[in-house]
Amino acid sequence: MSPRASTPFACGIIGAGQLARMTLQAAIDLDLPVAILAAHPADSAARVWPHVEIGSPKDETALRRFAERCAVLTFEHELVDPDLLDRLESEGVRFRPPARAIAVVVDKRAQRRLADRLGIPQPAWSPATSPEDVVAFARRHGWPTVVKAARGGYDGRGVRLVATPDSLATALSDLPAELLVEAFVPIAAEVSQVIARRPSGEVVAWPLVETVQRDGVCTVLRYPSGMPAELERAAREAATAIAEALDVAGILAMECFVTTDGALLMNELAFRPHNTGHWTIEGTVTSQFENHLRGVLDLPLGRTEPTAPAVCTVNVFGPADGSDPRDRLARALAVPGARIHLYGKEPRPGRKLGHVTVLGDRPDEVRKRAQLAADILMANSTAEAHR
Ligand SMILES: Nc1ncnc2c1ncn2[C@@H]1O[C@H](COP(=O)(O)OP(=O)(O)O)[C@@H](O)[C@H]1O
Ligand SMILES: [Mg+2]
Repeated sequence: MSPRASTPFACGIIGAGQLARMTLQAAIDLDLPVAILAAHPADSAARVWPHVEIGSPKDETALRRFAERCAVLTFEHELVDPDLLDRLESEGVRFRPPARAIAVVVDKRAQRRLADRLGIPQPAWSPATSPEDVVAFARRHGWPTVVKAARGGYDGRGVRLVATPDSLATALSDLPAELLVEAFVPIAAEVSQVIARRPSGEVVAWPLVETVQRDGVCTVLRYPSGMPAELERAAREAATAIAEALDVAGILAMECFVTTDGALLMNELAFRPHNTGHWTIEGTVTSQFENHLRGVLDLPLGRTEPTAPAVCTVNVFGPADGSDPRDRLARALAVPGARIHLYGKEPRPGRKLGHVTVLGDRPDEVRKRAQLAADILMANSTAEAHR
């Protein structure tokens, strides 16, 4: 690939958090010329990369300036203005995934409409803008219901479980006006399907992983997922159908519920490298970050087979005491086989600061060791007791 002289960068990444940072590690291996658009110079990826433009992707001038230097633009978050992307795309800027795919992924209602259109099973749902809408939905589907902000939610922040009509007003008080309401799903497990696609059509899929969520935040990834082959196939087919319907390039992650009856229901989508794909860095032949770049640049995709019988990734969050996991790095590195990733972010309680992956032969053993190293980094008092 030889970028035109006027576009020195083959690829521009919109966003400069840890996802961009780990994508850059893959760009280094392949010597791909990549630039990033960072909101702040202190962002995780901006700290470690020379080719940084500072600006907001919602600022037309900043986005145009960035686009002029990059043959293709891709994303590491959804904090963008789909109308602006659409306008720039009609002028010839190449977004991968395209603007119409981003317009779907920024809005949980649009994701649900798409799944309905493609016949992908999901929870019963309805758009809502008022408490009356929620009550009307609950009359048909029963309480409790789950009310979500249509846009901008992540890590459970825009999600409210509403048990009764009485608690509705309080639950909705700090949500925006544009909502959706869903039937409460009896969840036996949560799983994530990550695939990569290139514009010419090739698709590769990683094995399904189980994701353990605490308070709406993913804390642990486990391979193998323990799910039946039939369910794995359904997840792969649904994710592929979505990617093809929207011409997604690069990574698509589809988070799903497995119900207590064993049914697979789509929860939500992301069209970018995803937290539930971090295990692929060491745990599979090609990482999600490398295949994201390959897909976005329409290069042949890498294989996705696991490199060990069991892989576990545990996320590292800022401890409540405000202390810094970096101060405990040496002790965590002493855990055999712990592959530690720290994102270079200032520690704040609850903030996602890194992750630990362990590979091995037995699911319980890799989980124990990944958790131990993460607990040491998070200053969890139980950590030393396990040693
Ligand atoms: N309809 C539902 N029924 C039961 N639990 C749900 C439902 N929707 C979401 N949840 C729980 O809330 C978590 C966060 O919801 P999600 O829609 O994924 O929001 P976010 O965008 O913040 O990740 C899910 O991982 C799941 O544990
Ligand atoms: Mg989620």
